[in-house]
Amino acid sequence: MPPTGLGLVPKPLRLHLRRGRFTFDATTAIRSTPGTGPAALLLRTLLAPATGLPLPLADDGQVVLALDPGLAGLGAQGYGLTVSEEAVLLRAAGPDGLLHGVQTLRQLLPAAALSTAPAHDIPWSIPCLETTDVPRFAWRGAMLDVARHFQPVAFLRRFTDLLALHKLNVLHLHLTDDQGWRMPVGAYPRLTEVGGVPHGGAYTREELTGLVAYAADRGVTVVPEIEMPGHVRAALAAYPHLGNFPDRRLDVWDRHGVCDTVLGVHDEALDFCRAVLGEVMEIFPSPYIHVGGDECPTDEWHSSPSALRRVAEQGLAGPEELRRWLMDRVGTYLTEHGRRPLGWTESGDDLPKSFTVMAWREAEHGLAAAREGHPVIMTPHRSTYLDYPASTHSDEPPGQPGFTVDLPTVHATDPAPDHWDPADAAHVLGTQAQLWTEYVPTAAHAEYLLFPRLCALADTAWSGGRDWDGFRARLDHHKTRLDALGVPSRPSTIHLPERNTR
Ligand code: ACM
Repeated sequence: MPPTGLGLVPKPLRLHLRRGRFTFDATTAIRSTPGTGPAALLLRTLLAPATGLPLPLADDGQVVLALDPGLAGLGAQGYGLTVSEEAVLLRAAGPDGLLHGVQTLRQLLPAAALSTAPAHDIPWSIPCLETTDVPRFAWRGAMLDVARHFQPVAFLRRFTDLLALHKLNVLHLHLTDDQGWRMPVGAYPRLTEVGGVPHGGAYTREELTGLVAYAADRGVTVVPEIEMPGHVRAALAAYPHLGNFPDRRLDVWDRHGVCDTVLGVHDEALDFCRAVLGEVMEIFPSPYIHVGGDECPTDEWHSSPSALRRVAEQGLAGPEELRRWLMDRVGTYLTEHGRRPLGWTESGDDLPKSFTVMAWREAEHGLAAAREGHPVIMTPHRSTYLDYPASTHSDEPPGQPGFTVDLPTVHATDPAPDHWDPADAAHVLGTQAQLWTEYVPTAAHAEYLLFPRLCALADTAWSGGRDWDGFRARLDHHKTRLDALGVPSRPSTIHLPERNTR
């Protein structure tokens, strides 16, 4: 049987099937060697609801978990898995590799193992095999916009589990925008008092720190995004003096698109940025902190006395340079605190040198940024924005208008294509899906848009995505897992077009 018969998503780098099966039963125990406690706990936690298996720790356990420096060649996220009739051996050079290997073990079991409902009379067996598995890209993620429509933390945990199942390792939370502010900031309580009201609510600090720990236990890093200097209308509704016209009363925006209201560039606005980011760094240990930077109209700065004073004081050519100036200041603040600034680029050369960039308009901007020497995460809207509908079918629920992003397109989009110069391609950290939520009020709607396109992105980010037919076959199998997890299913006529018709 070829590896595709197992329906693994993403596809492992190398896998050889052997004869026979290993069966998990009430006598199966885990031998957890030093440093493998989190992987042992994750395996037990994931399998308990459906299988009821106790999987105790024992020195003679048949399921052996081991950190092995000899596998350093597989990197921090790679792992090796050997299954025989007598034993399972999962090894990796680092803890994240083990966590990914646990997800492979989970996918090898019957799909009912993924359900939250107890399943009876199912032999929990997996095929004997040998696999060595390494991701192509280190950054494999998904951005969820919780500003336009708030999502409760219970959904963020479920989403984290769905990311981890697909070996996606970044949950990028878009926490603030014109339409909402969802992260509490002790120094500026009105941000959530005012900005947390429309469409949902706001998180508590405990919910966010709890989410960070929950995600870390699954090998997922939560990367927070605080938007600036555009997309800040909710903050300015709470604190008008942070804007360009302190006497102007604003409400939290209730429209879509690009709002003219932008942050001021005076000292109080800079103090605000630093104070907010200081609290962000307390909650989120992520090495990367996203500070937005996209869609920043400069009209207000052209007529704001304080902005024009800043232009003169800094010797800038004009208000158009204020965005970069501000991003440079916040980037420096983050760097001084040991973090890496991350922002949206619209041209490839519009962010300071210290920034890692997300190229969201066109893939060419990612290439331009790589040529500028930026580390790049490829997020081109034509293939990674899953808020666009997946088809033109009349049954599609509302999505971002404009065009469609279908499953083959997501799968076929190589974050670092062969025709790029290898030196440029080396700057690509990876890719991620985006779910903006102007049109996405509920968790069920979010999952409907995300799946199965997120499976395609995960396949491409981990294994290169060059085998569409193989992916389709694996996805058919994988859909039984999504069904077991209760992920809303698309009719196959919609989600599996014969070819890309765009
Ligand atoms: C974006 O879509 N404005 C990053």
